Amino acid sequence: MWPAIQWENNKVILIDQRKLPAQEIYVECTDYHHVAEAIEHMIIRGAPAIGVAAAYGVALGIRNIDEKADMDEAFDKIISRLAETRPTARNLFWALERMKKTYENSRGLDLLRLKQRILEEAQLIEYEDIQTNKKIGAWGKALIKDGQSILTHCNAGALATAGYGTALGVIRAAFEEGKKIQVYADETRPFLQGARLTCWELAKENIPVILITDNMAGYFMQKKMISLVITGADRIARNGDTANKIGTYSVAVLAKENSIPFYVAAPCNTIDFNLAHGDKIPIEERDPREVREIGGKCFTLPDIEVRNPAFDVTPARYISAILTENGIARPPFEESLANCKRED
Ligand code: MRU
Repeated sequence: MWPAIQWENNKVILIDQRKLPAQEIYVECTDYHHVAEAIEHMIIRGAPAIGVAAAYGVALGIRNIDEKADMDEAFDKIISRLAETRPTARNLFWALERMKKTYENSRGLDLLRLKQRILEEAQLIEYEDIQTNKKIGAWGKALIKDGQSILTHCNAGALATAGYGTALGVIRAAFEEGKKIQVYADETRPFLQGARLTCWELAKENIPVILITDNMAGYFMQKKMISLVITGADRIARNGDTANKIGTYSVAVLAKENSIPFYVAAPCNTIDFNLAHGDKIPIEERDPREVREIGGKCFTLPDIEVRNPAFDVTPARYISAILTENGIARPPFEESLANCKRED
């Protein structure tokens, strides 16, 4: 597999997701500023992958600290820079909190050993993410029957994680088991994660995929050509309200109207237990050019006013189940998500 992120020779290597599928280009980050910029510019994206990248960003940052620096001050600067990259994905803040805890628990180590310890934690976060996704897949595949067709939105695959994927991990697991499935991928305007990334990923493994534009989802549901929907998540509130790529809410409403199950696949570290409801989830607003342009070419008035929220929140009542590494949480989510977390 083509990992979205790798640590190699003291560098963070990222596949440039802005260039896929036309070009497979790798970007090397040698300091934490590079990693922060790579997250902001979507060279790497997807909530779990952003978390792993940030953890490696911390490892790079601390690697480059010199002995004379005020360690605590320098460490906080690294964490703050990485934390300001993208506001919505809970996994980013979870990973940074975990790296901070590791740093605090490593007081007393000499600088060389501390740098090693921080790197090991980032590597552990990467390793655990892949294992977690495989567990999500193992739980989730039972929900997919032979012959079914699955609609997905955005890219919640290997590219959005350390490997295997969440929503696409469930699809992979069902496919690996020999189930005949048909995936429908929403193109996912404006960044086209579905058209560019999900199609690329699935096609590489010969998993049957049909690309549709976002506004076609209702048509195919009405025609009974979609058996279920699975998406990933960027942040899940305690009650199950789920932030995911813009357009997910519309898909969930359409699924309910058409009596189609709507599943969210995500690791427990996407759940924000501090938030009672989804209305407090911070929604990133991105550059208007992403809406005005496709492939760098403006197709509207160059100065037309634009809104570009990158995520929306699907209320829990539209969600049939949330698939985690610790099992399948069903409504009421307040209780079932808390149980999943307890098993962590
Ligand atoms: O803006 P992006 O591409 O980072 O948004 C990604 C998504 O919305 C994914 O569905 C989500 O992060 C889950 S990825 C396993």
